[in-house]
Amino acid sequence: MPFCISLTVNGVKRNIEFDDPRVTLLDLLRERLDLTGAKKGCDRGQCGACTVLVNGRRINSCLALALSHDGAEVLTIEGVAQGEALHPVQAAFIAHDGFQCGFCTPGQIMSAIGLINEGHAGDDPERIREAMSGNLCRCAAYIGIVEAVQDAQKAIAEAGRRDAA
Ligand code: FES
Ligand code: FES
Repeated sequence: MPFCISLTVNGVKRNIEFDDPRVTLLDLLRERLDLTGAKKGCDRGQCGACTVLVNGRRINSCLALALSHDGAEVLTIEGVAQGEALHPVQAAFIAHDGFQCGFCTPGQIMSAIGLINEGHAGDDPERIREAMSGNLCRCAAYIGIVEAVQDAQKAIAEAGRRDAA
């Protein structure tokens, strides 16, 4: 019996049918929707390369059953830039060399966006490291990643103040 779910992915509503109820959100994004930004690093919840936002919260999509997220809003790395304008977190990762090979980077950026939305990491590098500890980087670009999160937080806060003025 085919299963059918409806997801809003990067602002676009998608109705997706699949046969296997065990299909993960990660496989659905990569193999059915051709959104290959989220990476399959470990496929067991240990590396964070597959991080996406579901209803605004960061999750490891390799551990999420697609079926259990019917009706959800999903944001992937493909959906964060506004046309040619990078998201502040993307820009900060570039400015601070927050990557080398780039494999972990989509997950790092989605996790950083989620963390900044959560609003409780503050500017303390230790707390940012702790809050990003589910995202591993084999290239050990951690110094740049933490600096990028700090900078992006400031840029987003300033933009918020400008918008409110
Ligand atoms: S691929 Fe999902 S946590 Fe590693
Ligand atoms: S940039 Fe290579 S794994 Fe993080």
